[in-house]
Amino acid sequence: MRVWVAGRQIGHRPHLGSLESEFLGARARRCPAIRAARPLRMAASGSSVGYNRLAMQIRLIPIDRSNYRALWRLQVKPEQQSFVSPPAWSLVRCYVKAFGEAYEHLPHLISADGTIVGFSTIVCDPHGEQDYWIDDIMIDATQQGRGYGRAAVVETLRTIVKRYPRCRAVQLTCFRANTNAAALYLSLGFVKTGENDPVFDEPIYLLRGSRLDELR
Ligand SMILES: CC(C)(COP(=O)(O)OP(=O)(O)OC[C@H]1O[C@@H](n2cnc3c(N)ncnc32)[C@H](O)[C@@H]1OP(=O)(O)O)[C@@H](O)C(=O)NCCC(=O)NCCS
Repeated sequence: MRVWVAGRQIGHRPHLGSLESEFLGARARRCPAIRAARPLRMAASGSSVGYNRLAMQIRLIPIDRSNYRALWRLQVKPEQQSFVSPPAWSLVRCYVKAFGEAYEHLPHLISADGTIVGFSTIVCDPHGEQDYWIDDIMIDATQQGRGYGRAAVVETLRTIVKRYPRCRAVQLTCFRANTNAAALYLSLGFVKTGENDPVFDEPIYLLRGSRLDELR
């Protein structure tokens, strides 16, 4: 499936199967956005690159046979279940290279000071400059609101630009009802492209330019 940004074709949007699309789409329509009261956040300090660096160590750990079981314990809040694939679905998509042979599918556990708090998946076509995606990212319901999500998105971006020096843009799809995640992406410099994901008909966000280059 082709993706167009600002009138320019930038590549294939990784295509999800209709079953998964239905699963997520139907639930998205039923679930209103939730803005829960936020617990106290961990101390943060300013960074020369413009992103807050939290006083904790966030690491992305590639998922393999030694650690994949940690995925089963991760879950989002009930009202968030429409916003992201269940961890097992994400892992399966990576295993079968759901988005095509041209794409690298990289599933990661998110570790905060040694505790597994979430997962993120990167799907990229390394042959070009624009077709780089954060496919899924989530923080376990019990760990949300502590700054892990922000730090994990930054770490995922950093992983992409370090692994793929050719990358000039990172994209993701964020459902309209997912206002918390959208606020996070906008605050990091993502902008709406004006295009919708052809599978979900939900907005695509893109980060490029200096806000991305800061992470190289
Ligand atoms: C989106 C998600 C990853 C954020 O993780 P988190 O650890 O709770 O986020 P953080 O504590 O780092 O907060 C980062 C930003 O998210 C937004 N946010 C997160 N929770 C919020 C809430 N309850 N109310 C308002 N804003 C919220 C704010 O913009 C916040 O910015 P701040 O640091 O200035 O407060 C997490 O809520 C999640 O896993 N959601 C379910 C799965 C999902 O929606 N994934 C994204 C798919 S596109």
